[in-house]
Amino acid sequence: MTHNASPILVTGGAGFIGSNFVLHWISQQKGPVVNLDLLTYAGNLGNLASIEGNPDHIFVKGDICDRRLVDRLLAEHRPSAIVHFAAESHVDRSILGPEAFLRTNIEGTFHLLEAARTYLVGLAEQDKSTFRFLHVSTDEVYGTLGPEDPPFHEHTPFAPNSPYAASKAASDHLVRAWVHTYNLPALITNCSNNYGPLQFPEKLLPLMINNALSGKPLPVYGDGRQVRDWLFVVDHCRAIESVLAQGKIGETYNVGSGNQQANIDVVHLICDLLDELMPDSAHKPHRQLIRFVQDRPGHDRRYAIDARKLEKELGWRAQETFATGLRKTVQWYLDHKPWMEEVTSGAYQKWVHANYGRRGEEKKPAAAPAGAR
Ligand code: NAD
Ligand code: DAU
Repeated sequence: MTHNASPILVTGGAGFIGSNFVLHWISQQKGPVVNLDLLTYAGNLGNLASIEGNPDHIFVKGDICDRRLVDRLLAEHRPSAIVHFAAESHVDRSILGPEAFLRTNIEGTFHLLEAARTYLVGLAEQDKSTFRFLHVSTDEVYGTLGPEDPPFHEHTPFAPNSPYAASKAASDHLVRAWVHTYNLPALITNCSNNYGPLQFPEKLLPLMINNALSGKPLPVYGDGRQVRDWLFVVDHCRAIESVLAQGKIGETYNVGSGNQQANIDVVHLICDLLDELMPDSAHKPHRQLIRFVQDRPGHDRRYAIDARKLEKELGWRAQETFATGLRKTVQWYLDHKPWMEEVTSGAYQKWVHANYGRRGEEKKPAAAPAGAR
């Protein structure tokens, strides 16, 4: 160890954003990380292979709903912060099986809040004043936007539309209540869609890249004109660091880079990058693999984030543009084919069958009418 900093407790640090955060934190030698992760289908120790054996990374396989375990970890390691990523995170899975979302996202957050509250009672005043609980949440709590609506800001009313979004909204409300009722020093971040290395290929970008590499259809839901506000994952990690270091207790910070893209445009960009980076591919042009399939039920039309509070108050700025971030991301998956092979073996095939097997192919959609929502 190269420092005397106190540890932080990270939950869900073997998932996509959590593992990027742990790697980023450790690469900057910011102190030890106790990483509590249940290793569900979405958690993967392979994401952390580059820090294997590093004494600053203490991995614990376990459930955030296991209160005794969480109490023990807090008592043993005495962290200066909890950064809470652990969640069920995929909207399509929440539609096919919502129960796990209620358990992990709502009950799990409740147990962590209670464990933190108890832990704080036993801390010295100085440690109490610097302790932080950072709850990592999503822009999906705000619902959906029409084409002309202004982006979500921190006071946009909650209107979650999927079981996933509803479970995250509920967890945000719990955090808010624990701040107001028990003075828990907590903060919330609500971030837009992340992309980058180490994302499980159930989400749009890695799914499209993985399918394209093996010449499989690229399933675009509905008319493909739904809009998401894409942020490179390391920029999200930097935002979390800023909020942890300088955010005001009880406040919410929206995180996003104003990079709104329609799904079909993102898929086109991926296909074109693959054509360029793999000039000998038998599947070129990759756009020929695109298929419009039955839409996601209750599919939110548009997300967009107003991140001016984070930018003005904490000085955060996204460093990656979509052009540079997407190129890095596609290249990363091309350079890490064994990673992809490993995560798509076994249960992944069952998921693909459950989610895509029932979706018939749709005719190529006509342009969406103006004002569609
Ligand atoms: P992910 O699905 O890739 O990873 C979730 C991690 O949590 C996995 O490692 C999993 O094993 C772990 N986990 C699940 N249930 C657990 C439990 N009961 N106890 C302990 N660990 C458990 O998710 P992600 O995309 O990295 O998202 C991380 C967080 O960021 C989530 O809270 C999500 O709501 C939020 N978020 C995600 C995005 C995005 O675009 N992916 C955007 C904004 C916010
Ligand atoms: O906005 C933040 C949220 O972004 C996070 O809170 C979630 O954890 C994360 O999963 C993500 O949710 P989305 O539903 O927006 O992400 P997903 O990658 O599943 O889908 C992105 C868009 O692409 C969405 O409009 C649905 C569409 N899509 C997705 C898949 C998997 C397709 O058209 N085809 C697909 O096969």
